Amino acid sequence: MIGKLNHVAIVVPDLTAATAVYRDTLGAKVSAATPLPAHGVTTVFVSLPNTKIELLEPLGDDSPIAAFLARNPSGGMHHLCYEVDDIRAARDRLVAAGARVLGNGEPKNGAHDRPVLFLHPKDFCGTLIELEQA
Ligand code: CO
Repeated sequence: MIGKLNHVAIVVPDLTAATAVYRDTLGAKVSAATPLPAHGVTTVFVSLPNTKIELLEPLGDDSPIAAFLARNPSGGMHHLCYEVDDIRAARDRLVAAGARVLGNGEPKNGAHDRPVLFLHPKDFCGTLIELEQA
């Protein structure tokens, strides 16, 4: 059911510094910073030949990644994003299998303006999973 690895997301305490690490130290192509108020984050995407890295910095007072950063002050790996052909069909199949979908279960438009959902890490090997409509 899952397709390509769309991106690996890393939460960072300082998006400007993290972008410089990927652009200048690692020599990668990076996007401009994009605020996503509906998700409580600002993102930068790093383009790699086979996938992307999403750098995430908290945005606003009740950012969903604020607690993660409090536990991991230097930042850290936050989630994996897999592409699916039909996000509602994927959700229904996962819910029927007993998996927990975060939030109200309805896809929201994510960083690529495509519908996304998040799945509970306890149901997926301790890893937060984002599904994105391909
Ligand atoms: Co993501």
